[in-house]
Amino acid sequence: MNEIKRNKVVLVGNGAVGSSYAFSVLNQGVCDELFMIDLNEERVLGDVMDLNHGMLYAPSPIKIKAGTYKDCRDADIVVICAGAAQKPGETRLDLVGKNIKIFKSIIEEIMASGFDGIFLVASNPVDILTYATWKFSGLPKNRVIGSGTILDTARFRYLLSEEFDVAPSSVHANIIGEHGDTELAVWSGANIAGISLKHLLEKHPEKQGRMEEIDIDVRDAAYKIIKAKGATYYGVAMGLMRITKAILSNQDVVLTVSAYLEGEYGQSDVYIGVPAVINRNGIRQIVESPLSEDEQEKFNHSVKVLKETQKPFFE
Ligand code: 2OP
Repeated sequence: MNEIKRNKVVLVGNGAVGSSYAFSVLNQGVCDELFMIDLNEERVLGDVMDLNHGMLYAPSPIKIKAGTYKDCRDADIVVICAGAAQKPGETRLDLVGKNIKIFKSIIEEIMASGFDGIFLVASNPVDILTYATWKFSGLPKNRVIGSGTILDTARFRYLLSEEFDVAPSSVHANIIGEHGDTELAVWSGANIAGISLKHLLEKHPEKQGRMEEIDIDVRDAAYKIIKAKGATYYGVAMGLMRITKAILSNQDVVLTVSAYLEGEYGQSDVYIGVPAVINRNGIRQIVESPLSEDEQEKFNHSVKVLKETQKPFFE
C-alpha cells in the first residue's frame, strides 16, 4: 500500500498558549499528528494524556505525542509558543532580550534536526522573534510566519460585530503594524458586509464615539486580560490554529500575520503585521491595502519602533 502523507505539527512551548493551541487543533481536526515539546516534560505528558482522552469527541483522530527536537525533522509546521510572557505592567517589547536568547537555542536545535518546513511564531514580541527565527534558521521568508496582528484583527472584528449586530465574519477590517502598542486600525478600508464603515457612520454619526473607544479597546485588550487573569491564551490559540489550517489545507486565505517586507508599504527588512495570502507554501503574497496618509504615518512609526528595538540584537 502507498504511504499516506500525514500533516505533522510540532509545538514547542506548552504553557497556557501552547496547550490552548493543542486543544484548539484537536477540536477542529486541523492536522494528523501533533508532537508537543516543553522543558517541563511532566506537564507535556499530562497534557498528552488529557487531550488523548478527549479524542473520541474530536472530528477526526489525531496522533498526539510528547516529542523531542528530533521530531521536527519531517514536520510540516513547527509552532513556537515558548519563552517568557508579559507580567502585569510589562509591554511585549520588554520581553525582547530574554526571549531572543531562548529563541537562538531553540531554533538551532530545530534546524539541527534537518527541519525544512514552515515556522509559525507566537511568542512576544512576536514581530521581532519572527525576524529572529528567520535570521537564525536561514529559511526563506515565505516559510517563516509570525502570528502578528491575527488576534488584534479578531478583537477588532469582534468589537465591530457587536456594534453592528452581525457575525465577526461579516466584518472586514484589519489591524496592522506591530503586535503591540504601536499597532493601528485600517479604518479607511473597513466595511461591514461590503458597505464601507465611512458610509455607515455618515448614516449613524452617534456611533463615531464608540469607534474611538474600540480603537483603544483593541490596543489595550491584552493588558486588561493579563490584569484580570494573569495571561491571554484562548484568543491567540484560535488565531494560531486558523493560520495552521490555512497552511495545511492550502487555503489561499488572507490573514493578518507578521510577514517580511521587501518594499511593500514602503518598508523593508522588518517582520510586521500585514494582510497576506496564506497557503501550503506559507506566505504566498503580501496584500498591500491602500492606507490613508495618517495610517501610513502610523505604520511607518510602528516599523521604526520595531527596527530600533531589534537593531542591537542583530548588529
Ligand atoms: C495578546 O495580545 C499578550 O500578545 C498577547 O493577547
